[in-house]
Amino acid sequence: MQSFIYRNPTKLIFGKDTLIELKNEIPEYGKKILLVYGGGSIKKSGLYDKVIAELQSIDTVVYELAGVEPNPRISTVRKGVEICKSEGIDFLLAVGGGSVIDCTKAIAAGAKYEGDAWDIVTKKTEVKDALPFGTVLTLAATGSEMNSGSVITNWETQEKYGWGSPLVYPKFSILDPTHTFTVPKDQTIYGIVDMMSHVFEQYFHQTTNTPLQDRMCEAVLSTVIETAPKLLNDLENYEYRETILYSGTIALNGYLQVGVRGDWATHNIEHAVSAIHDIPHAGGLAILFPNWMKHTMHERIERFTQLALRVFGVDPEGKTDEQIAIEGIDKISEFWSSLGAPNCLADYNIDESTLDSMADKAMVYGEFGNFKKLTRKDVLAIYRASL
Ligand code: NZQ
Ligand code: ZN
Repeated sequence: MQSFIYRNPTKLIFGKDTLIELKNEIPEYGKKILLVYGGGSIKKSGLYDKVIAELQSIDTVVYELAGVEPNPRISTVRKGVEICKSEGIDFLLAVGGGSVIDCTKAIAAGAKYEGDAWDIVTKKTEVKDALPFGTVLTLAATGSEMNSGSVITNWETQEKYGWGSPLVYPKFSILDPTHTFTVPKDQTIYGIVDMMSHVFEQYFHQTTNTPLQDRMCEAVLSTVIETAPKLLNDLENYEYRETILYSGTIALNGYLQVGVRGDWATHNIEHAVSAIHDIPHAGGLAILFPNWMKHTMHERIERFTQLALRVFGVDPEGKTDEQIAIEGIDKISEFWSSLGAPNCLADYNIDESTLDSMADKAMVYGEFGNFKKLTRKDVLAIYRASL
């Protein structure tokens, strides 16, 4: 294990009817609230009205930024920053999925920066201050509700980057499983693939002696694998939604990664795909991750055999380590396909013609990946295998 310091300051408020906690949480931060939300799902589900009612029950003035896109754009972040600066906003409230929360994080930091918020995303400037914000999560997937990361797209330049700062942890996040009942089947599948991918990113590392971290990762994966098919047949089942919602948070709130250095190459490779093709993040991951695994497994094959044996129930009898590892990886692909996730880039009509430009985007900060450093050649090989 590596030495570590772990601190996660987000207050997690979890369970049915917890929206009423808004009136206890918000007053300490001020009165002028910017409510940030997406393309309208919260209006359709009735959550918008409930949030407004809670905000009206306390002494607040509410401004709104609607229309945050999936794969949120810097142009929308700029609009939010402008409102914060011109209206003197005290507190931001994100109501939505990972995109709304990530956009809110960038607005929170951008509101306290004199230059353009894109400088924050591209790490040209260090975040020195940020407005406080809270979240009401409506989709189990990214873990953004309890982490300090954010992913923003610049559609004009076709760039998509992750950035983060300890100053953009949400002050609180409200997770009521009933708020996820209306998530359609495809987005539910994407969320499941995303949270499993987050565990994989942290499971494949070069650190030794991590028995507890390993078993915690395996527990999250086994729980998601057991629950996902049941949930997809019963989208308004409270218990399945509750299990998946909590799994998504645990998968990326930093706790699985204490004492280890996760890989995170596949996320980088995927962000380059969605920067150019605007596909759902986890659709890209479902396609790319098994191919990253096959490309890198010889770096430390025991990680792959352990996963295959403990989580995917591979029978080792008479098989080499390589055969066990490959069978385990194939079981991941089969599981995702059985849920309905895509499995090749052609599913999104992506062909050879953009592989080079995607590889250029992925390589923008040079070689990457902590399990195996990937060169441009590696990245292209993974894209080709994914066609
Ligand atoms: O925009 P609305 O109308 O709200 O609809 C959204 C959107 O169309 C809809 N939705 C959300 N909650 C719903 C709902 N529809 C019905 N009922 C509900 N309760 O779902 C669609 C997708 O929403 P989005 O927020 O984009 O999905 P997700 O949470 O998967 O976020 C994806 C973004 O997060 C980034 C991805 O790159 C992508 O940009 N990531 C952020 C991370 C982080 N901050 O830690 C890590 C992740 O790996 C990821 O990269
Ligand atoms: Zn992800």
